Amino acid sequence: MKKDKKFGTRCVRAGEAPDPSYGAHTTPLYQTSTFIFDSAEQGASRFAGEEEGYTYARLVPNTPTHAALVKKIASLEEGETGQTFSSGMAAITAVALSQLEQGDHFISSDVVYGGTYGLFSSVLAKFGVEVSFVDTSDPEKVKENVRKNTKLIFLETPANPTMIICDIEEICKIARETGALSVVDNTFATPYFQRPLKSGADVVIHSCTKYIGGHADLIGGVVVGKKEFVRSMAPVVNCTGGTMGVHEAWLSIRGLKTLHLRMEKHASNAMEVAEFLEAHPKIEWVRYPGLPGHPQYEIAQKQMSGFSGMLSFGIKGGIEAGRKLMNSVELCSLSVSLGAVDTLIEHPASMTHVNIPAEVRAKVGITDDLVRISAGLEEADDIIEDLDQALTRL
Ligand SMILES: Cc1ncc(COP(=O)(O)O)c(C=O)c1O
Repeated sequence: MKKDKKFGTRCVRAGEAPDPSYGAHTTPLYQTSTFIFDSAEQGASRFAGEEEGYTYARLVPNTPTHAALVKKIASLEEGETGQTFSSGMAAITAVALSQLEQGDHFISSDVVYGGTYGLFSSVLAKFGVEVSFVDTSDPEKVKENVRKNTKLIFLETPANPTMIICDIEEICKIARETGALSVVDNTFATPYFQRPLKSGADVVIHSCTKYIGGHADLIGGVVVGKKEFVRSMAPVVNCTGGTMGVHEAWLSIRGLKTLHLRMEKHASNAMEVAEFLEAHPKIEWVRYPGLPGHPQYEIAQKQMSGFSGMLSFGIKGGIEAGRKLMNSVELCSLSVSLGAVDTLIEHPASMTHVNIPAEVRAKVGITDDLVRISAGLEEADDIIEDLDQALTRL
């Protein structure tokens, strides 16, 4: 397929070609742990990196199924190549371990997924890597926190769960001037709505568990960047073994084929839900990048072509009212994760972000009253009707 095809066409076709063995229409699932060499010499030259080809499914480039997924997601993110992982966290871990060493410092958005916070604040700290959590919605604060040994700037935008947005272009400029690698977790927006590499980022990360898989039936992760960068991760990838399972790779390929269609519906549903909640007398506040009242509405307009399916809100009556609401929904699923076909509702302070100390959560806006919704693909009227009936019970 020529590179100039439109996004939806690339979702369907990029990275895939008829199977050379039997002409299978869909990319085969190469359910194998190892590959047979034609000769001892061939095996040796593949291990030496002198000949391209597969060796063992833990080792880069894993299997042809993984390779097809990498080509598809790289095409969608407009990047050169990538690497798949067993989870979004394994992807973030591999980027950190391959790029940072003892004595290094890096900057991270202060609002990130709880697992990312734990990795940065506790796990990496054990190896002498220091993080500064910074309000990356303010580029000046990023500049102020740059040190001589700052090697990486990690952004999550929109941020989970506050939906705070940072200016990717501005911060990547600061990273370039600093000589630091810029890394963006694009899980919430997906390449359909936001392409950080086009805005100057070096690396994009996804939890494939979310919109890429799209059906809440897999755990996976992927990293996209320049060939040289992806090569630099290979020792960590090969030796730590956070390889994506081949079935997950196959499911991710299948998920991506409908990404463009799903994201339109996720976003229009989220917008309708956000507008309903904003007008509801029992709701204190709503945070959705498509609402003009969002604190970074202008930046969202600049760098996103749509606002995805995630929103958060606070209810009058705080956490007690929030709990009652979550216990009263009938259609929406009371569940963590996001990007599923069905609408999910959860309480970050006691679930996805519970590992972040309470005082840190309060400081960065992950307040106890915050409820997060991942708008699914049901009809908006039905989601709203469910939330409405749950709100009347408060
Ligand atoms: C923004 C973001 N990044 C990364 C992750 C981690 O992904 P995974 O659960 O696939 O490890 C999550 C999980 O919720 C997330 O929300």
